[in-house]
Amino acid sequence: MIDFNELPKENLYYKDDWCVIYLGDCQKLLPSLPKVDLILTDPPYGINFVPQREFSKQKFGDIPIANDELQGDKWLEWFHPINELMFDRLKDDSVAYYYSGFNPYYYYYYYSMLKVGFTIKANLIWIKENFGMGYHFRRQYEQILVGFKGEPPTPEKPISDVIFCNKVPSKTIVHSCQKPEDLNRRLILQYTKQGDLILDPFMGSGTTLVASKNLGRKTIGIEISKEYCDIAIKRLAQSVMVI
Ligand SMILES: C[S@@+](CC[C@H](N)C(=O)[O-])C[C@H]1O[C@@H](n2cnc3c(N)ncnc32)[C@H](O)[C@@H]1O
Repeated sequence: MIDFNELPKENLYYKDDWCVIYLGDCQKLLPSLPKVDLILTDPPYGINFVPQREFSKQKFGDIPIANDELQGDKWLEWFHPINELMFDRLKDDSVAYYYSGFNPYYYYYYYSMLKVGFTIKANLIWIKENFGMGYHFRRQYEQILVGFKGEPPTPEKPISDVIFCNKVPSKTIVHSCQKPEDLNRRLILQYTKQGDLILDPFMGSGTTLVASKNLGRKTIGIEISKEYCDIAIKRLAQSVMVI
C-alpha cells in the first residue's frame, strides 16, 4: 500500500490517512507522482460552463471553471499533453474513466485516448432522472469513456454500460459540475480493491476522493482552484467509511 509520507511535498495542500490533495496545475504536478491503480476524472469540457439551475447560478455564477473556456482544437492542444501524463502515471493492466460530457467533446477525448495508447473498452452512458435546458434537445445523459492500459483483470460482476443515477440535488451541490458520489462509487468498485491507489487530477469538489475514502481506497486529488480544494477538505471531514 502507498505510504503518503513518501509523496512529493511541493504543492501538497492536505493529507489524511486516505487522501492527499495537491493545489496546482496537474500538468506540472503529474510527472512527480507515483503510478496508480485507477484514474477516475472529470476534466473541464471546453464549454465555458454556465450553470443553468437557479440554485447553481446563485452559488457558482461568479466561480468560473479553470480552462473551461478552451474550445475545439485549442481544448485538445491543452488536454492531450495532460492525457499523455495521465496514461504514463497509470500502472500497466489498469483502467481510466474519463467523464467526457456530450457531443462533440466525446470525439476529442476518444481521439486523444487512442493516440496516447489507451484501448477504448466502453462508452458508459449516465442517464439522469430529469432533463437539462436546451433549445433543440434537452440533455439527459453524459458519457464516461473507459480506457484500458494493457489488459486489466475482469471484474467479478459486469455492470450495464447504461447507468441510471440521480444528479446531485441543487440544495446540496457545492461545485457547478459535481458528479454523484454513488456513480463514482460504482465505477471504483468495478476495478479496484481495498488499499488500491486512485488518481483524480481534476478533482473539483473531491467527489472521487470522498467515494474512494468511503470504500477504503487511497486517493490523490489535484485541483487548480484553492476554493474547491477547501470544499473537498470539508467534504472529506464529513465522510464516513461505510465498509
Ligand atoms: C468538471 S470539474 C470536476 C468536478 C468534479 N467531478 C466534482 O464532482 O466536483 C473540473 C475541475 O478541474 C479543475 N481544473 C481545471 N484545470 C486544471 C488543471 N490544469 N489542473 C488541476 N485542476 C484543474 C477546475 O478548477 C474544476 O474544478
